[in-house]
Amino acid sequence: MSTPAIELDRLDHRYHMHSFTHLSEFEQQRSVVIERGDGVFLIDAAGNRYLDAMSSLWCTTLGYSETRLADAAYEQLSKLPYSHTFRGRSNEKLIQLAQRLIEIAPEGLSKVFFAGSGSEANESAIKLAWSYHKFKGYPEKRKIISRSNGYHGSTIFATRLSGMPQMYEYTSADFPEIIYAKSPGYFSSEVQGESEDEFSERLADDLEQQILSEGSNTVAAFIAEPVMGVGGVIVPPKSYFEKIQAVLNRYGVLFIADEVVCGFGRTGNMFGSTTFNIKPDLLTVAKGLSSAYFPISAVFLKSEIYQTLVDATTQTGVFSHGFTYSGHPVGAAIALETLSIIEERGIVDHVSRVGEIFQCEIHKLREFESIENTRGIGLMAGFEVIPKRSDSEVHAGNLLMDIAERNRLFIRAVGNTIVLAPPLIISVDEINELIKRLKLSIDEMQRTIA
Ligand SMILES: Cc1ncc(COP(=O)(O)O)c(C=O)c1O
Repeated sequence: MSTPAIELDRLDHRYHMHSFTHLSEFEQQRSVVIERGDGVFLIDAAGNRYLDAMSSLWCTTLGYSETRLADAAYEQLSKLPYSHTFRGRSNEKLIQLAQRLIEIAPEGLSKVFFAGSGSEANESAIKLAWSYHKFKGYPEKRKIISRSNGYHGSTIFATRLSGMPQMYEYTSADFPEIIYAKSPGYFSSEVQGESEDEFSERLADDLEQQILSEGSNTVAAFIAEPVMGVGGVIVPPKSYFEKIQAVLNRYGVLFIADEVVCGFGRTGNMFGSTTFNIKPDLLTVAKGLSSAYFPISAVFLKSEIYQTLVDATTQTGVFSHGFTYSGHPVGAAIALETLSIIEERGIVDHVSRVGEIFQCEIHKLREFESIENTRGIGLMAGFEVIPKRSDSEVHAGNLLMDIAERNRLFIRAVGNTIVLAPPLIISVDEINELIKRLKLSIDEMQRTIA
């Protein structure tokens, strides 16, 4: 017999510590206990049916009812529920997955390393970048350039890589090895009348100055999401990455593309690097790799980086990095099936097709007096909610998120920025339903703060 909703709420408050939650406010709030999923919908323990316009955390790209993924998990669990990758051990599914991933990877990436989460993948990429430079004879190349508003995870180094100072309260000292470049938010440019190209040029010049003033011999890598997700769906302006990459190439700084959100179709191409013409040296993925049906992530690397580490181990012995769950056979089986579904159902083409309708509807939200800077690409979008009342007590983003939840729509507020990233399988009818619930919620929010 299942536990009644009210009792689950009580037990959740009593025993569970939540992630990214205002812990003191939560004591007065109810838990949203999700019981099951159905396509792009989530159903809570009280039977309410929410349209999930966030794919939970940008991750359930194939929605919540993909029985092929459940079957792949069951089959693998029944055959080999676990095996590891230390000391050359391997398993069939992970080998097949590695091959598939390299076949579809952006040009030049020829090996793949597995981990369990986006944070682990990014931390691994940093270690690989450091090791590469060290064994190439440049051990002083240690600094990592990240960007304000970027998000790269929640482990200690990844927290600091994220250009979101509100997250730093829970880590200790500064990390002198991390430098922050400017966010590519063209719509919030401080220079009036600048074209997109001029803006990109200015940011590339600034980056070059940063590298030079730090000492180019000390800079190891630049890490960037092709489209910033958590930071507010910030789509880079024209020529931004080409110009940035030209600067990095001049100073031997590696490009780490964090595709934890963009990878596997979100921007309308298999990878955001393709959409924005990025040629990464290292590339990280997670979330959409298994449509979040299992925690699995990966780092793709160029052969030159891999070969440097191969050569290094002739002096150092074992390459001492990896995780218990690197290359987990169940995760690999699910990821492999996810890739098959993406391919067979033409999910990437679907995103670029319905993405146009979605973006068009998002841009129309400017008709509301409280909505500004609508933007997006593929099936990710963002906009700012501007409270017209000069009342600093009103947190318009949170207010809209709460109202939307009452209207059975899950969206996410990051300050006064709202972000949306529905499952990639969303249909046009469901997009219309999403927009209907969103408009209703904006209207209600405007009346609340009028
Ligand atoms: C771009 C990006 N990188 C890394 C991460 C961290 O992934 P995880 O939470 O799996 O560690 C996230 C999570 O949202 C992300 O959006």
